[in-house]
Amino acid sequence: AHFLLLNGPNLNLLGHREPQVYGRDTLADIEARLQQIAEQAGHRLSCFQSNSEAELIDRIHAARDEDVACALINPAAFTHTSVALRDALLGVELSFIEVHLSNIAKREAFRQHSYFADIAIGTITGFGAQGYVMALNAAMQRATDATR
Ligand code: DQA
Repeated sequence: AHFLLLNGPNLNLLGHREPQVYGRDTLADIEARLQQIAEQAGHRLSCFQSNSEAELIDRIHAARDEDVACALINPAAFTHTSVALRDALLGVELSFIEVHLSNIAKREAFRQHSYFADIAIGTITGFGAQGYVMALNAAMQRATDATR
């Protein structure tokens, strides 16, 4: 199956940005690890990061023609602000798992609401870079179950 990893604003700074909150792994490290896991299991993974809401929306629209089984999305700060990204996901009926490195439930009040949580398959939050691996494993399992 084809999976899509989407990361939102400032996640290009991973590894350097507030490492006590977000960890030491860079986004390149995370993408390489996930690529390897997907390929080993006979799947395909596309990766995209942008600081731009418009580019993320366009990437979600493009997924309509790519037969994406499931996306793994960390919308970053757009989690708490973006009706437009939410509408894009609903518009192309892209099913997705929401991922956050930090446990947003333990953080500031403005991080307590997600525009994605109620339309996601599920949310993985607080496990750092490992959360992406957990999300990919869940997505692969779902794809396998769906073909059974
Ligand atoms: C984040 C949590 C968001 O609140 C924050 O704006 C981020 C990263 C996380 O992965 O923990 O940029 O999505």
